Amino acid sequence: MSADQLIASLEQLGREFQHVIRPLADEQAIRAAQAQFLGKKGKVSEVMKELGRLPPADRPLVGAAVNRVKADIEEQVARRLRELADAAARADLARAVDVTLPARPVGGGHLHLLTQVRLEAVQIFSELGFVVAEGPQIETDWHTFEALGTPKDHPARDMQDTFYVSDEIVLRSHTSPVQIRTMQTQAPPIRIVAPGHVFRRDDDATHSPMFTQLEGLAVDEGISFTDLKGVLIHFVSRFFARDLTVRFRPSYFPFVEPGAEVDMQCSFCMGAPQGLPRAEDARPRSAAGERDRSPSGAGGACRLCKGTGWLEIGGAGMVDPVVFAAVNIDSERYTGFAFGMGLERMAMLRNGVDNIKFYYEGDIRFLEQF
Ligand code: FA5
Repeated sequence: MSADQLIASLEQLGREFQHVIRPLADEQAIRAAQAQFLGKKGKVSEVMKELGRLPPADRPLVGAAVNRVKADIEEQVARRLRELADAAARADLARAVDVTLPARPVGGGHLHLLTQVRLEAVQIFSELGFVVAEGPQIETDWHTFEALGTPKDHPARDMQDTFYVSDEIVLRSHTSPVQIRTMQTQAPPIRIVAPGHVFRRDDDATHSPMFTQLEGLAVDEGISFTDLKGVLIHFVSRFFARDLTVRFRPSYFPFVEPGAEVDMQCSFCMGAPQGLPRAEDARPRSAAGERDRSPSGAGGACRLCKGTGWLEIGGAGMVDPVVFAAVNIDSERYTGFAFGMGLERMAMLRNGVDNIKFYYEGDIRFLEQF
């Protein structure tokens, strides 16, 4: 082909592109057409292959024509894209908006179940004169264990094996270090509750590596175990909105003496097999009028309390004099009680949550139920 013929076919490509691009109405199609002409294997490249066969003197002329047609095609692409954008903007502006229509309702969020439970618990205790105290989640080993009568070689540490940041710094395994921080900075009388996150090396359907506890501490002259019992029995009946029996089972925590595990009457089967006082209000009736005594409704052992009639909610006891000694409070003059419970557990028992993971997964189908 001669130089003139090549220039003519290049100009023809420019005109051909005009026809190709005119009906195209989206950017993807326009870019595809552009590639058909200007891409490595595009039509313009095909013509350029002929360039090498021309006498050297003719090549600059044809080269200039190639550049012209490329620029022309690129300009056509830019123009068409502008036209489309303008048309879209015009269509947008032309849309009629009826400003008199009522607004669409905005779906309101609500507090997470655990937050609700925490606020409710704090409210109940605040009515009894307790105020909220806080402490750090990354805590010293001393506040978490040592000051609570649990030196480094103490076997009770195993039950709260946690995450160590260094030899002396841990993720707190319970909220009890807030007792220490409070007693270091306040003189009795003290009445605090300390809700917060704690961390342990636990992981199953009812135990999570991160969970929430609520600590309670009262220190004053003349505080006795009776006060502890009264406060916890009141709390349970308020929180579950019915009278449930509370049991104090002797147990060991290095920072209380005497110490107890606190159990409450199973809120589902009401502990009926154990002959506990029965609150008849909650159990559903079957069609035959019999009260259903198990969460499964099958009449077998209750799935919640496994037929024991009791559910553990936390630990409690009278503040051990070794703790008072660590914070320089005179244990001859003052006595105190302390308790700590798991808030996930409380919500599981009251709201029928059967896997602790549900709290943290953020699944809207779970969250919406509470
Ligand atoms: C304690 O943590 C003591 N600090 C409680 C205490 C405070 C006793 C003051 C005496 C005086 P315990 O390890 O039993 O005790 O934990 C208390 C509650 O936390 C348990 O009853 C349970 O409800 C909850 N809990 C414990 N481990 C987990 C876990 N991994 N996931 C969810 N909840 C847990």
